[in-house]
Amino acid sequence: MKNLLLIGLFAITFCNMGTNAQTKTRKKGILLITFGTSYPEARKAFENIEQKVKTLWPDVDIYWAYTSGFIRKKLAKQGIQIDSPSEALAKMGEAGYTHVAAQSLHIIPGSEFHDVVHTVKGFSLVQKGLEKTTMGRPLVSEHEDLERIALFFTKQFPIATDEEAVVLMGHGTHHDANIYYPGFQYYLNDLSDRYFVATVEGYPSLDNVIKQLKKEHIQKVTLTPFMSVAGDHAQNDMAGKEKDSWKSQLEAEGIEVDIVMKGLAEYDEVVKIWIDHLKEAFDEL
Ligand code: CO
Repeated sequence: MKNLLLIGLFAITFCNMGTNAQTKTRKKGILLITFGTSYPEARKAFENIEQKVKTLWPDVDIYWAYTSGFIRKKLAKQGIQIDSPSEALAKMGEAGYTHVAAQSLHIIPGSEFHDVVHTVKGFSLVQKGLEKTTMGRPLVSEHEDLERIALFFTKQFPIATDEEAVVLMGHGTHHDANIYYPGFQYYLNDLSDRYFVATVEGYPSLDNVIKQLKKEHIQKVTLTPFMSVAGDHAQNDMAGKEKDSWKSQLEAEGIEVDIVMKGLAEYDEVVKIWIDHLKEAFDEL
């Protein structure tokens, strides 16, 4: 009797496994995740990425999520509804997706990126969740990424005279991954000593870079964001009219400033790096 019961249980279990595997067809989707921006102009950069992703995966649906609750709320007041990563993943599950490749449009693997990794992984662990989720690396995380992005900047912003330099505005973070910024500086130095990266909230600061500019007798600086979009930080902290904006601080040092108000997501060569990372994640599905 006991044996019969066991056999019965096994049979039920195996039957269920069989039907689950047969009835659930694979449906692959892509989820693009960014901090987000409330600037309509800056969102053009995201459209550029979406176009590129569509070209490569014409039959795969693309979902978007913003990690910033502040920006999502701000946009909701304007009637623009954008999901958080977990909302988007839940929707994808509801819509019948079984396999999702998520791509982080973050710059470095900092705290936001790691939060997203947990969320994306979590959805493949919960019952009735997605069968498999993978996560693409942010813009710069491996040696080759840093080489590519350093080369991109030196080509995109060629320097005409000895007195000119290019200053990139990175975000910076309290997270250990802030080391990517001084690390990136080393890659830039490998190519030229006229390209500098400074951060709003981490190390190096603009003061650190101003010291270098003075040492090199730089007269003219091209200032541009090292962020996915030219959003709030670029418009205000970098190029704002206030005395403490980077533009004002550099001008106060007698340096002429030229602003390039373009986020990284607007450059095809940079988008290519994110897309290469998405390819890796998609191939893992
Ligand atoms: Co910020």
